[in-house]
Amino acid sequence: SDPLRLGIAGLGTVGAGVVKIVRQKAALLEARTGREIAVSAVSARNRDKDRGVPLTSYAWEDDPVTLATRDDVDVFVELVGGSDGPAKAAVEAALKAGKDVVTANKALLAHHGQALAELAEANGCVLRFEAAVAGGIPVIKALTEGLAANEITRVMGVMNGTCNYILTRMENGGLSYDEAFAEADGLGYLEADPELDVGGIDAGHKLSLLSAIAYGTQVAFDAVELEGIGRVSIEDIRQASDMGYKIKLLGVCRMTGRGLEQSMSPCLVPATSPLGQLEGGTNMVVIEGDQVGQIVLRGAGAGEGPTASAVMGDVMDVARGTRVTTFGAPASRLVASTPAKAATP
Ligand code: HSE
Repeated sequence: SDPLRLGIAGLGTVGAGVVKIVRQKAALLEARTGREIAVSAVSARNRDKDRGVPLTSYAWEDDPVTLATRDDVDVFVELVGGSDGPAKAAVEAALKAGKDVVTANKALLAHHGQALAELAEANGCVLRFEAAVAGGIPVIKALTEGLAANEITRVMGVMNGTCNYILTRMENGGLSYDEAFAEADGLGYLEADPELDVGGIDAGHKLSLLSAIAYGTQVAFDAVELEGIGRVSIEDIRQASDMGYKIKLLGVCRMTGRGLEQSMSPCLVPATSPLGQLEGGTNMVVIEGDQVGQIVLRGAGAGEGPTASAVMGDVMDVARGTRVTTFGAPASRLVASTPAKAATP
C-alpha cells in the first residue's frame, strides 16, 4: 500500500521526537501497522536550529497552513501550540482539505474541540489528540477503548508535572513557593506563560478534554472550577502533612444528578494513596468505572520521548485505518452538559 505521509508543523522538543521515531523505527512502525509511515514536509519558525535529527530530505514550508494543505500530506501533525493563531488556522485548513489531524494541543482542543471535531466529521476526517492529555500516558485510549463498556463514575488526576514538581519541592525540600517556582524555571519546566502551569489552566484544559471523553459531553473548559497553586504556602503543606495528607493540584470530574462537575484545584489527598505518593514532574490519572473499579495510570506527562510516543500512537492508528476521532464518538453525538458547581472531593 502507499505510504502514510505526514506534514509536521512545529519542530520543538516533541516535533523533533516525532521525526526521530519515524526515522529510527521505520521497520517497527510498518510491521505494526502494515503501512510505511513517512514525513513529506515540515514547518517551524527557525530553519537553521540543530534539532539533533536530519531534516534536509523534507520539504520546508514557512506557513503551517500551506503545509497542512499540501497534496503530499495525508496526516497533518500539529505541534505548534496555542489555542488560536497559526495552530487553529492550520488545523482548520487541514480538515477542510480532507486531511486527518493529530495534535498535542490541549489549549486548542479545550477552546475549540467541539467545533473542530464537527469540522472533522463534516469532512470525513479523523482528529486525534492523545498527546494533549497527560503526555505519554495513553489515558484517552484507556477511556475510549479499553474501558468503553464502563460507566465512568469519576476521573481524577495530577496532570501538570510542573505544579507537581513545585509542590513536591515545597514538601520535601522545604522550599518556599517562590524558591520552588524559581527552581522549576531554571530547569526549563515552565511554559512560556508560567500562569498556564501555576494557574492550573494547562491542567484545566486537559481535564476538560478528559471529562468530554469520559462522559460523551461537549468540551466545557469554561465550566471547570479553576484554582492554581500560587496561594499554597509552606504552612499549608506542613499542616496537611501533620494530618497525613499531601496537597496536590488535583483535577476531578464526575457526572452528578445536577450535571457535570469539573474542578482543578489544590486538594488534600491521603499521603499513603497513589496520588499522595506521586512526586516530582510526573502525572497520574485515576479512573473509576462501574465494571472495572479503580485503575491508576502513572507516567511522564511531558518531554520528548513520552509526548512523541503518544503522537505516534495516534499516527499509527490512522495508518491502521481507524476512522474514530479522539472523542470516541462522532462530534454530533456529544451532548451539551449542565455544569454543576464542584464540591471538594
Ligand atoms: N507544562 C506542562 C506540564 C507540559 O508541566 O505538565 C505538558 O503539557
